[in-house]
Amino acid sequence: MISYIWAEDANGLIGTKGGLPWHLADDMKYFKNTTMGHPIISGANTFRSYNRPLPGRQNIVVSRKTDFPAGVLVISSISELCEMIDQNPNENYFVTGGANIFSQLLDKVDRLYRTKIDHSFTGDTYMPEINYTDFKLAKSVDGIVNEKNPFPHTFEVYDRKA
Ligand SMILES: NC(=O)c1ccc[n+]([C@@H]2O[C@H](COP(=O)([O-])OP(=O)(O)OC[C@H]3O[C@@H](n4cnc5c(N)ncnc54)[C@H](OP(=O)(O)O)[C@@H]3O)[C@@H](O)[C@H]2O)c1
Repeated sequence: MISYIWAEDANGLIGTKGGLPWHLADDMKYFKNTTMGHPIISGANTFRSYNRPLPGRQNIVVSRKTDFPAGVLVISSISELCEMIDQNPNENYFVTGGANIFSQLLDKVDRLYRTKIDHSFTGDTYMPEINYTDFKLAKSVDGIVNEKNPFPHTFEVYDRKA
């Protein structure tokens, strides 16, 4: 199966200048805990924003280039990626973005892990439009606002309707 995991602001913004527009410590922890042990699939730009392969997860990068660190599985097309996913039906593949990769798997994604941040930031990269009528909200948990997490945020999980 395919899951998306991302955080977006009140306007669907997800990125700025190759990075995140905000720092939310609890969302970083949520991302780590949720994806740990599962393969993660990232576009080349998003992978570069990590600065290194993320530990404890098979790092799969979608790119036409090949200059990635040892141990990273580089896949050069979406069709090749889908073939691999189809061959491993018991695996939960987490697509970690960015917008470019999210936009190419919209009809295939089974589950959405969306962190909704109730604040407007400035940036340059937006989440592609998702048809939420195809999904049902399975979980919604408000995050705690504090010094390290200064913006109200909600952790949501949506499952594709059968
Ligand atoms: N808020 C969040 O949760 C979140 C999550 C993820 C990312 N982001 C942000 O989003 C931004 C990056 O997103 P992005 O849309 O610019 O880039 P991206 O989706 O991370 O990467 C795009 C790159 O992936 C490769 N690619 C895409 N489709 C391909 C295909 N079909 N076949 C082969 N290669 C393909 C190409 O790289 P090559 O040129 O190497 O071929 C392309 O330039 C950053 O600011 C990041 O911080 C935010």
